[in-house]
Amino acid sequence: MANIAVFGAGYAGLVTGVCFSELGHNVAIRDVVPEKIHRLRSGKAPIFEPGLEDLMERNDERLTYTLDLAEALEGADFFFVCVGTPPTYSGDADLSAVWSVIDELARAGKETHGTLVMKSTVPVGTGEKVRAALDARGLTHVGYVSCPEFLAEGTAVRDFLNPDRIVIGAWESADADAVESLHRGLDAEVVKTDVYSAEMVKLAANAYLGTRISFINEIANVCELVGADVEQVARGMGLDRRIGTHYLRAGIGFGGSCFPKDISFLKLLAGNSGYHFQLLNAVIEVNELQKRRVVSKLQKHLGSLRGKRVALLGLAFKANTDDMREAPSKVLASRLLAEGAEVRVWDPVAHPGDLQPAVTVVDGALEALEDADAAVIVTEWAELRELDWAQARDVMRTPLLIDGRNLLEPEEVRSVGFVYEGIGRVANAFEGLPEAEEPKLA
Ligand code: UGA
Repeated sequence: MANIAVFGAGYAGLVTGVCFSELGHNVAIRDVVPEKIHRLRSGKAPIFEPGLEDLMERNDERLTYTLDLAEALEGADFFFVCVGTPPTYSGDADLSAVWSVIDELARAGKETHGTLVMKSTVPVGTGEKVRAALDARGLTHVGYVSCPEFLAEGTAVRDFLNPDRIVIGAWESADADAVESLHRGLDAEVVKTDVYSAEMVKLAANAYLGTRISFINEIANVCELVGADVEQVARGMGLDRRIGTHYLRAGIGFGGSCFPKDISFLKLLAGNSGYHFQLLNAVIEVNELQKRRVVSKLQKHLGSLRGKRVALLGLAFKANTDDMREAPSKVLASRLLAEGAEVRVWDPVAHPGDLQPAVTVVDGALEALEDADAAVIVTEWAELRELDWAQARDVMRTPLLIDGRNLLEPEEVRSVGFVYEGIGRVANAFEGLPEAEEPKLA
């Protein structure tokens, strides 16, 4: 079993580190934020990720949480870089946290041996720069591997333990083999490749998934105009094995810390390398417009939104996470406030810290709906599927429901008195019928 040092106790670092301990390795997770480390030491995860705390408890003996670099590095054979790479003003990746780790390794001394594994999402070409930086700091004997993570928040533990594939990019086959051996126990195909290609797999995979979402969102928008139902269309398309059913859920646009950022990274990477990636421009623009479409749906029913009370149900960028990064709810709340609406929001776990102060945050879905002129389902929380919608209708001023995630069965909510509109679903069973008679054949 190996000794692994993980740099960064964010979503990727924590899940990666804790899951490696589940595979039997000794893992030291190091972060520079004291609150995170204190919380972890008390057995609590600083993020909401189903299953994570159970694994932390089960593997407690193999896990160390530390602020101290020397403690993390002691005896470590692998250095997993899992630090954040947020976008800069230019949209490129801010790699400063990555460079800090390299500097720290160098300061730890030339006797540091092992393999550096890049998990953070980085532009293609970063591995080569890191290799050069390691060499320049006298760490030529430290191996380098790009091993991108494909963990989705909310299912990250499951994704780690049941991966579709493990991608390993290395210059030296011994480094690739060493990292592969860490994953022993997982049943997945291993794609061994060069460092550039491994870096590109990550960006291309996220960009492709985002492209599918923007595609189905545009299909949904056309469905609304022609009377088709995107849920049926997605199913009918997705059952074609060449297409597949995943990432064809129409909604209010994708968010999170990965898709928006990585798609922009790839677009800029192409641009900086002399290629205009047209398709990604469209993917990004469609996504931005999609977040705003709910506003026009509300206006269609309510006219001006000035003084109207709108309840946003869910804030997180998707269910089963508390993450608000790039959440469509933020754009939606701002747009509604700009239209003069009164905005009340509820989410079971997300921290609405960076919403505008004018937004009212309440503790329960029904409380958010009190005297509301409209409700919008923003996040597909199970709590909303199970809500008593007849009671919800009673507390609202106007029973208007815009389902931004196509979470509910339209007929069920309509039967309790709601005016219901989803995304790409026929607003009313008869609205899809052509108004004019079909021309008669001669
Ligand atoms: C995504 C990828 O799925 C992971 O494989 C990857 O490792 C991760 O980014 C990353 O780069 O770290 P994540 O951002 O956690 O994971 O979330 P997803 O479940 O992929 O959803 C992203 C967004 O797309 C959410 O806003 C979600 O609501 C939206 N989405 C997803 C749709 O609108 N429709 C769909 O059919 C699927």
